[in-house]
Amino acid sequence: MKNVTIHVTDYTGIEHRLDGLEGWRAMEVIRDYGLPIKAECGGACACATCHVYVAPEWLDKLAPPNADEEMMLDDAMAVEANSRLSCQIILGPEHEGLKLTLAPNP
Ligand code: FES
Repeated sequence: MKNVTIHVTDYTGIEHRLDGLEGWRAMEVIRDYGLPIKAECGGACACATCHVYVAPEWLDKLAPPNADEEMMLDDAMAVEANSRLSCQIILGPEHEGLKLTLAPNP
């Protein structure tokens, strides 16, 4: 498996460079690095506590959310047009350099 580096901005505005692996969920990389993401359901698309904002230049490069993700986002806090659930972003080579920002968690 190859490395995929993503950049994640935390609640204080600090950007972290995180090395993940292809096939991992962005949420898993963020959680494993100890950033404050709850991800309560463990990636089952059932909690929305892995909510992130996607940098505008990356929005078109991600596969669109499926119906389950859209439903969970409907109930999430502070949802914006660039909101996604990070457990639904499965990293591949096309995500090298992906930029995300942690969204407020309940
Ligand atoms: S971890 Fe629960 S929806 Fe992503």
